[in-house]
Amino acid sequence: MKTGQSNCLIYGCMGLGGGWNRNPLTPNDEKTAHEAIYAALETGIERFDHADIYAYGKAEEVFGKVIKSNPGLRNKIILQSKSGIMLGKGPDNSNIYNFNKDYLIQQVRGILKRLQTDYLDIFLLHRPDILSHASEIAETFHYLREEGYVKQFGVSNMSVSQIRLIQNYWKEGLVANQIRLSLEHSMAVDIGVSINTSMIPYDSGLQGMLEFCQINNMAIQAWGSLDRGLYTGKPHASLDRKELETAKLVSKLAGKFNVPENSILLAWLLMIPGTIQPIIGTTKPERIRACKKALEVKMSHEEWYELWITARGKPLP
Ligand SMILES: NC(=O)c1ccc[n+]([C@@H]2O[C@H](COP(=O)([O-])OP(=O)(O)OC[C@H]3O[C@@H](n4cnc5c(N)ncnc54)[C@H](OP(=O)(O)O)[C@@H]3O)[C@@H](O)[C@H]2O)c1
Repeated sequence: MKTGQSNCLIYGCMGLGGGWNRNPLTPNDEKTAHEAIYAALETGIERFDHADIYAYGKAEEVFGKVIKSNPGLRNKIILQSKSGIMLGKGPDNSNIYNFNKDYLIQQVRGILKRLQTDYLDIFLLHRPDILSHASEIAETFHYLREEGYVKQFGVSNMSVSQIRLIQNYWKEGLVANQIRLSLEHSMAVDIGVSINTSMIPYDSGLQGMLEFCQINNMAIQAWGSLDRGLYTGKPHASLDRKELETAKLVSKLAGKFNVPENSILLAWLLMIPGTIQPIIGTTKPERIRACKKALEVKMSHEEWYELWITARGKPLP
């Protein structure tokens, strides 16, 4: 059983900055960010997740304003951001990926400027760029570290083999892989019971991911951890049978442990062995504060499995 999880939650800043538009920041965007960030801090959260693309840079920009207004804050938090996705540069305004050295260095400089900080604690590669060379990634990391721009590095949405390749050139360790992982989107867990069955894991990039991260001292940063309110707020009439049963079970367990429903989703993630760091993306201060209760939940083995199997909608092999 893992203990001392008080600082394992990450506050995800994708919802800050007024949304995916090019409008300038408004006083209301600043108020929302200020309230969300301080609610996270009150909750004991010290890790904050960004990406250069969130709200077209405005999530970082509004966060930077909060940092500027409280000069003591920067050194009390663990600040991370990501880069490597180029929005709208593909056909029909779709996205492409770019890990070229010059591009990433330029992006990190922009991130630091928007966040009004001299350094990032962690920089993650956002989504694998198929054309990237691991040797160039290592050179880029080396440069970013030597310049004092970044202390540690990680990846996001990468398979075990992609991480292995980077590790082959970057010997100083990767601290995290940020992947989608939640009660609804539990493929990284499902894959652990697929051996010798006809269940074909449709995402084989996750094969061995949980074990690999434990062996390599990498955290799994779980994005989408609250399933965007699917089980904890979405009207029951809009849910299918499997989702409805899961929502009812989440509610029953929340009643049993006397905690808000979102805490049950996070507690389920935190029971997975290894270092699991759920990223919470709600901007509502009361929802952020309520997440702390997840650390109090001591679900039984049977309860954990019941939740998983109910959300899967099918029994284990
Ligand atoms: N690496 C990647 O590729 C990647 C991809 C996506 C996200 N992320 C990171 O992960 C973080 C979280 O992702 P996410 O926002 O998709 O996941 P989430 O935490 O599961 O969902 C939060 C979103 O759901 C909404 N929501 C509606 N009802 C809710 C309820 N009852 N409880 C909680 N939230 C409810 C929230 O709106 P309100 O604000 O109104 O509460 C918010 O927009 C992001 O901020 C980002 O840092 C990373």
